[in-house]
Amino acid sequence: MIFSGSALRIEMVEDGIAHLQLDMPGESVNKLNLQLSGDLTQALTALEKAPAVRGLLITSAKSVFIVGADVMEFGPVFAQGEAAVSHHLQANNLNFNRLEDLPFPTVVAINGYALGGGLELCLACDFRLMSSTAKIGLPESKLGLIPGWGGTVRLSRLAGIDTAIEWIASGAEQGPEQALKCGVVDGVLSPEALFAGAMEVLKRAIAGKLPFEERRLQKKSPLRHNDMEGLLAFESAKMFVGAQAGRNYPAPVTAVKAMQEGAKFGREEAQQVETRSFVQLAQTSAARNLVGLFVSDQFIGKKAKQWEKQADKIVSRAAVLGAGIMGGGIAYQSASKAVPIKMKDINQKGIDQGLAEASKLLTKRVESGKMKVTEMAAILTRIEPTLSYDGFGEVDLVVEAVVENAKVKQSVLADVESEVCSGTILCSNTSTISIDVLAEGLQRPENFCGMHFFNPVHAMPLVEVIRGTKTSDLAVARTVAYANTLGKKAIVVRNCPGFLVNRVLFPYFAGFSMLLRDGADFQQIDKVMERWGWPMGPAYLLDVVGLDTAVHAQAVMAQGYPDRMSNTFKPAPDILFEAGRLGQKNNQGFYNYESDKKGKPGKVSTPDSYQLLQPHVAAKKDFTDEEIIARLMVPMALELVRCYEESIVATPAEADMALVYGLGFPPFRGGVFRWIDEQGLANFVALAKRFEGLGSLYRSTPALQQLAADGKSYY
Ligand SMILES: NC(=O)c1ccc[n+]([C@@H]2O[C@H](COP(=O)([O-])OP(=O)(O)OC[C@H]3O[C@@H](n4cnc5c(N)ncnc54)[C@H](O)[C@@H]3O)[C@@H](O)[C@H]2O)c1
Repeated sequence: MIFSGSALRIEMVEDGIAHLQLDMPGESVNKLNLQLSGDLTQALTALEKAPAVRGLLITSAKSVFIVGADVMEFGPVFAQGEAAVSHHLQANNLNFNRLEDLPFPTVVAINGYALGGGLELCLACDFRLMSSTAKIGLPESKLGLIPGWGGTVRLSRLAGIDTAIEWIASGAEQGPEQALKCGVVDGVLSPEALFAGAMEVLKRAIAGKLPFEERRLQKKSPLRHNDMEGLLAFESAKMFVGAQAGRNYPAPVTAVKAMQEGAKFGREEAQQVETRSFVQLAQTSAARNLVGLFVSDQFIGKKAKQWEKQADKIVSRAAVLGAGIMGGGIAYQSASKAVPIKMKDINQKGIDQGLAEASKLLTKRVESGKMKVTEMAAILTRIEPTLSYDGFGEVDLVVEAVVENAKVKQSVLADVESEVCSGTILCSNTSTISIDVLAEGLQRPENFCGMHFFNPVHAMPLVEVIRGTKTSDLAVARTVAYANTLGKKAIVVRNCPGFLVNRVLFPYFAGFSMLLRDGADFQQIDKVMERWGWPMGPAYLLDVVGLDTAVHAQAVMAQGYPDRMSNTFKPAPDILFEAGRLGQKNNQGFYNYESDKKGKPGKVSTPDSYQLLQPHVAAKKDFTDEEIIARLMVPMALELVRCYEESIVATPAEADMALVYGLGFPPFRGGVFRWIDEQGLANFVALAKRFEGLGSLYRSTPALQQLAADGKSYY
């Protein structure tokens, strides 16, 4: 035994070969945290001193190699400022440089995920062998950061500028084929053959048959490239990468710049450039917020897993009622995740539409090479279209997704309840109708809850699981477990009009309608809100949702919260809807929609909507960006605060994740509660007060005012 630490150990195995095995205690994965980093420092000292070592093999005892840095450690380190971040990076940079400088060859066997710092460790080795089932990558840009442990330096020198830029800017995971093609790994082997294969490579390197010193020189020297060529690659990449990431996500361009600046330097100086760039990014609110979201995502994932553990059974057969847009999407998603599903409608036309929707999605996957035709066929056979309740006695869970009408839904739910067995869980995908109202006619209301998917089902990650007054834990648990199986992010909320996501969306729309009433231009508002980070502005979003749907849902919200959500004037969506403009679905809303060459609807400006709105709104007036943002975001944020105070949602983290996953709230802002925290609660309360004259949607709650007075924050 050369070294035995808490996260790794090194043993001599044969012929002077030392075997370093990573194995963090009590964890299902290896993470590059302070513990592992400390162990590595000591292990390297032991290796440097060990007399008889001729080569080093690194492996992992877990099913993954190293999943990356421990992101939980980032928040506290970043909060201590630049020197602390720099220090945090230095420890592993020193480790990896020492690893690279060992007086004998090093080989790593990548058996599973090697991401971020995990891959950076591998890059410091001389040779990399990868399992055919492993994935590697440098995902730091997804956290608003760049690789900080030599990733920008070593990957660009080893695999070339283009690969380094692509891998680091996208942050994407790479499979073995790609890794081999790009020269990031030296060989791909089956999981069974990996250890022996890596050992073989090491022996050949020890025997002088593989030039490990040349490899080291390449990684430690300035980048080898023709200056003009390099300049062009970096310059065009900055433009391309910048345009793709957008102005709110500076990390990818910073990575390109760091590689460009470091290109002329040897290892240590290039690493200093990398460290400076990382430190600078770590101080941005984008990185802070993205890291915060990562932590919240882990939190909601854990909560969903806990619910799943409480489930008495996993859903192995499901059913959906209504084969419309949502029913078809739910059937596709269930079948894709290997859960057979019955899809019932009242007419054949509906069923044909639902099946056509699923086929369209699958065909796209086949055409893009992501799926084989045989897989597509297997998935389609898992959808069982039906006009009757035959076989419903065998399903574990039913999602009702028929038309949005309380009476129809109540009657459909009562019917299906009499067809299923007593333990089956019933869910409704209603967007607006109270779960308690829908439960009224049921014999077993404890077995009923909301399961609110978002459109399009396959693409939107969120599922709100809505707990009615009588819903049992068991119903919630089985529904969350099903959402997990479908690959969705489940967030459990309490029943109220609009539930969580729509309840906070409609105050935002109300703020938008008031701005239009007061003379703002909806196209300007869309531009401002898109620049602020929303994937689409409110006018465009209303068109996508459907103005008929929006008007209907607004009426439900007004009924639920008459004091602050009743219309006191005729809002723009109503005016357009009454004129027959339904939004994207009939190509006429705030905008007109025209198909492009590929048949995709594109929005174009039209005088028609302006003419319709004109008699109902004030003369055109300019508003500052700041005012537009405040008038839309304050009502949304205050409604979310109310939801939290009323325990509709249990934590700020879940509330923020729900908006990111359900509405596409700009991730770099970290969610609404982080947005409030960042301004400071007192400043936010003052901002709301400035607009209080617009109505009670802008009125802070007493609890919020108290928190602000006490200098508290939500996180
Ligand atoms: N479309 C969205 O964006 C969206 C998003 C979230 C939730 N929802 C909710 O999902 C539900 C369905 O919405 P949709 O957009 O898919 O509607 P849709 O009109 O596209 O589909 C409804 C389907 O239900 C069928 N149907 C009607 N009565 C039925 C019955 N008694 N038994 C079986 N099938 C019946 C209809 O034939 C139709 O095929 C609604 O409650 C809606 O509020 C919709």
